[in-house]
Amino acid sequence: MVPAGVEAAIIYQLFVWMTIGATVILVLMAAVTAWCMRGREQPGGADGSGRSRASTVLILGGGIALPVVVLSALLAVALPSVPALTAPLADPAVQVQIEAEQWWWRVRYIAPNAEPIELANELRLPRGERVQLWLSSRDVIHSFWIPSLAGKMDMVPGRGTHLALQATETGVFRGVCAEYCGAAHARMAFVAEVVEPDDFRDWLAAQARPAAAVAAPEALRGHEVFRQSGCGGCHAVRGTEARGTIGPDLTHVGSRAQLGAGTLANQRPRMVAWLADPARHKPSARMPPFHGLGEERLAQLSAYLDALR
Ligand code: CUA
Repeated sequence: MVPAGVEAAIIYQLFVWMTIGATVILVLMAAVTAWCMRGREQPGGADGSGRSRASTVLILGGGIALPVVVLSALLAVALPSVPALTAPLADPAVQVQIEAEQWWWRVRYIAPNAEPIELANELRLPRGERVQLWLSSRDVIHSFWIPSLAGKMDMVPGRGTHLALQATETGVFRGVCAEYCGAAHARMAFVAEVVEPDDFRDWLAAQARPAAAVAAPEALRGHEVFRQSGCGGCHAVRGTEARGTIGPDLTHVGSRAQLGAGTLANQRPRMVAWLADPARHKPSARMPPFHGLGEERLAQLSAYLDALR
């Protein structure tokens, strides 16, 4: 894995140093052990003095001196990195609240002097800018991790944690939940896309807008299905009557890369399959199945959702 962020590069450096330290310990311990075993076979071994000298060297050298020297060296290497990895930023360019739930991510961009911009299971970040993430959980312990960009951080119910990161490369990076959190833990992923700052600002402005007005006849019928089926009881579509807060915000769901927190690619046939029976694709998914709507109305519903870009 090539680090694509400042924090990931620090962690990569630490990994390299830890690996070197572990290798040094292994080689030195093997050498000390071999030397001691040789000592036991030398003359004087019969009266036990060779054996006791070997034991003393093994305990003092291998048990005390070696760990103290190597661990002190590793501590000296690691300690200066700690503030950079743990302290919240004094003046972040972007701040995002991320709330984990079984089994998806509620993402809110904090907009100065405005309502937060809510989306789900997707994170976009400007390259080269300092980003502060504020992390929390609604139910059990989850853990936020984008391996290419930064370290992982637990998301604990009733307690806020935070993570700062600065991406250095553009690209699409996979994020995951790194703490077992129930049946669909393995289906709790997200996409983090790093773009140039101008593109990021354009994207955020688009996300702040209410849902696009749909015009195509199939999508209009799909909006009617959405209304009649009570989807708005759980999901919000800003600018419409749907204001639910239980499930993911769907204002711009058509523009997302994936469905069900990294479970399926966001394409019309897969959207239909997801709506028909979410738990078939994601064990214990909280959304109920809608196969009772029938093929035609599911297709219309997917047309409506696809049009929300
Ligand atoms: Cu959330 Cu594992």
